[in-house]
Amino acid sequence: MSRRAFLAAVAGAAASASMRGAHASAVDERQIKVAPGEVRLNGAGGPSTAVWTYNGTVPGPALRLRQGQPVRVAVENGLDEDTTVHWHGIRLPNAMDGVPGLTQTPIRPGESFSYEFAPPDAGTFWYHPHADSLVQIGRGLAGPLIVEEAEPVAFDGDLLWLLQDWRLTKDGQIAGGFGSMMDASMSGRVGNLVTVNGQAQPDQSVRAGERVRLRLANASLARMMALRFEGHRPVVLAIDGQPCDPHEPEDGRLVLAPAMRIDIALDMQGDPGSRHDVIDDFYDGLAYRLTTLVYDNASPIRPHPLSAPLALPRNPLPELDFANAVHQEIVLQGGMMGGGKLKGAGGMMGMTMPGMNGGAAWAINGMSMTGDGHAGMAPQFMLERGATCLLTMRNETAWWHPMHVHGFSLSVLSRNGEPVPHRQWQDTVLLAPKDTVDCAFVADNPGDWMLHCHVADHQMAGLMTVFRVK
Ligand code: C2O
Ligand code: CU
Ligand code: CU
Repeated sequence: MSRRAFLAAVAGAAASASMRGAHASAVDERQIKVAPGEVRLNGAGGPSTAVWTYNGTVPGPALRLRQGQPVRVAVENGLDEDTTVHWHGIRLPNAMDGVPGLTQTPIRPGESFSYEFAPPDAGTFWYHPHADSLVQIGRGLAGPLIVEEAEPVAFDGDLLWLLQDWRLTKDGQIAGGFGSMMDASMSGRVGNLVTVNGQAQPDQSVRAGERVRLRLANASLARMMALRFEGHRPVVLAIDGQPCDPHEPEDGRLVLAPAMRIDIALDMQGDPGSRHDVIDDFYDGLAYRLTTLVYDNASPIRPHPLSAPLALPRNPLPELDFANAVHQEIVLQGGMMGGGKLKGAGGMMGMTMPGMNGGAAWAINGMSMTGDGHAGMAPQFMLERGATCLLTMRNETAWWHPMHVHGFSLSVLSRNGEPVPHRQWQDTVLLAPKDTVDCAFVADNPGDWMLHCHVADHQMAGLMTVFRVK
């Protein structure tokens, strides 16, 4: 977008915001239909892949909401199995959280459910099913959710890349074998094709001199990513939707585990006509080109990079009260090369789940809760409403785990005893093998909430628990 077009867009947004102000209570109505569909992940010339879609597309439509404005999303289930929608990272009422058996009965085939909430935080979020998650997310169900700041933030453009990882057969169909014990007890179902907004290795056209806000979301089942922008220096503005102190990432790589989002500012410093790859090199020796920044031939839109401050406005997160905090420890156990005995939800070893040959492969504090949240397990711990909880997560396993908490953002305090800088708040915290991370949050939202690894196979195979805020 040119500077002039940008200013016009900002003026338009401001005008429509003040018009909306006149009917502040008006509910924003949206509709989502979940149904099978066909997409071409490799462009028009590639094979057609049978997938599951939101409103016919993969990823689903980008929901752009306004901070604090009530929205009602009517979800219709056109699959022949139960589903729900979980609004990942949004702090919302428990009954709207989309966890089957815990916060709602699942949406049966042919039925509908309306989700209503008013997103308190501006930022980058996403939505996905929380029923048969491994299969449903693995077949394509995921969509971006953007909550716009009350006051527009100045960038020349606002881009979003939703990244999905697919395990495809040679003829371009989704491979079966979901929930194999091999995937479940090791790194999860890592695929063989990554798409950016539903396309493999698309070009991203850019203009010299622009400053773009780029929202990255990893909607993969299991693939960890570490993004490098060749010839560019991204500045991290927000993690999991929550603004942090703007900073350049260590060694220039953006580590993006499944379910994480990172917003960056990208100054387009390349020459007109140049091309720069964006590479994922999380896995040693396996560099993967995700996309390429392709500069048009126009001369730079400004002679020098912008020097305007980059910090995004902070969200209204509750104040932590360390003096009166309660402490809770979560220990992650199991996996291949992990060892230890696992106890199932019913106190039995090896609960089975459909499609899994074994049973529980993982545990939290000695207990394995398998599936999507409907295992009917008593909460692992209770918190008084309003209490500050110091949450220590200790990974005893030999594997990586992006640990996700529903309903709250966690202030990430320290990692292996080292303070975490940049005042980061996250809903998904990546633990490397043997890592210990200290976080804190205010238990201001009553209900039963999930806490689980977002590697879908790990969640399904026991790396999940529930806590209650009374
Ligand atoms: Cu993104 Cu329990 O989910
Ligand atoms: Cu979530
Ligand atoms: Cu995990």
